Amino acid sequence: MPNRVQFDGRPVWAEVSLGAVAKNLRAVRRHVGRRRKILAIVKANAYGHGAVPVAKALAKAGADWFGVTCVAEGAELRASGVRQPILVLSGFWPGEERRLIEHRLTPAITHIEQFHHLERAIASAARSRRIRGPYAVHLKIDTGMNRLGVPPVEMRAVAQALADSPHLRLDGTFTHFASAEDFTSDQTGQQESLFRAAIERLHAERVNPGILHLANSAAVAKRPESWADMVRPGAILYGYHQFFEPIERKAEAEQMLPLQPAFSLRSRVISMRDVPAGGGVGYNARFVTERPSRIAVLAAGYADGIVRALTNRGRVLLRGRCAPIIGIVSMDLAMVDVTSLPDVRLGDVATIYGSAGPGGPAIWASDVARLLGSVTSDLLCAVGPRVPRFYLS
Ligand SMILES: Cc1ncc(COP(=O)(O)O)c(C=O)c1O
Repeated sequence: MPNRVQFDGRPVWAEVSLGAVAKNLRAVRRHVGRRRKILAIVKANAYGHGAVPVAKALAKAGADWFGVTCVAEGAELRASGVRQPILVLSGFWPGEERRLIEHRLTPAITHIEQFHHLERAIASAARSRRIRGPYAVHLKIDTGMNRLGVPPVEMRAVAQALADSPHLRLDGTFTHFASAEDFTSDQTGQQESLFRAAIERLHAERVNPGILHLANSAAVAKRPESWADMVRPGAILYGYHQFFEPIERKAEAEQMLPLQPAFSLRSRVISMRDVPAGGGVGYNARFVTERPSRIAVLAAGYADGIVRALTNRGRVLLRGRCAPIIGIVSMDLAMVDVTSLPDVRLGDVATIYGSAGPGGPAIWASDVARLLGSVTSDLLCAVGPRVPRFYLS
């Protein structure tokens, strides 16, 4: 019975294995080689795992850089003592320049005007001697995702903006793949070509593009031609490959780059009831018992990470066996049918994600993602902040 965590409070909690996170980072290191830098993506609270403890474990295991979404996430890492360079992947908003500089965060420049905003802010900081030397930025190029980044046709304007910004230094240039996890798509190859052409244009404009980086998890796993100078794994650090079917290709990748999921989510049975046949369970009676049934109620709902789409679909582990989630998952509670598990008792630990013990059965976020047509990152990010995270070594 996985019941290693003892604490007072509402019985829903997560167990995060920092050992697994470190092991995954070391697996990536072996895979991409010593020469390449690894930028570990720890945005969105490290995909729900807890940004500060995860970043510290990754730093110890050899991460060279960290990637966050916004200035606030970068500031949190700096406040905890993280010293590695931190790339702010979505750049900065007007007004955030001062905080960005104060925490020595490296912004992604996603449109040309940002060079000018930042140049003004850095020039002013340099005048008051708050910084010395040119400030490092990375340029994000939009090679076809049509979401964020400077289009390849604007490389001449980039060169001009840099020439007009003596306080800025281009330290890196990157792009983001839209379809790297899809074996049937040729979009990744097209994005790589567009990226290389944009880099050539920068060289032609006598701009040094700095560190080149493109690869997210799926590209780290199976597209070595995209690794360039630095890779940017996210999901694989938390133990999940990002492939779609076919399943044999997934097995191949798992063999090449073995991973260990780091996150378990557990709750306890806080109420048991016997419901006669024909009884409605939960909101809108979306489940109606077909036989006299035993219902166990868990102290976890969609605000805790049992996503509402699992209504009448999901399963949890109780006493090492699967029990189906029945009825609408509510914000704070979920119900499971334990009619066929007569030994389940009030207070038992239910595993929503994780293993029911060494070598025992397990439910992983990848199983639930497959069931729901979602991705593991979506599910892990859905585990709300009120769920305490316990860090296991
Ligand atoms: C720019 C960028 N690089 C890398 C990643 C990591 O992606 P993954 O979790 O698929 O490795 C993300 C995540 O969305 C991203 O936005």
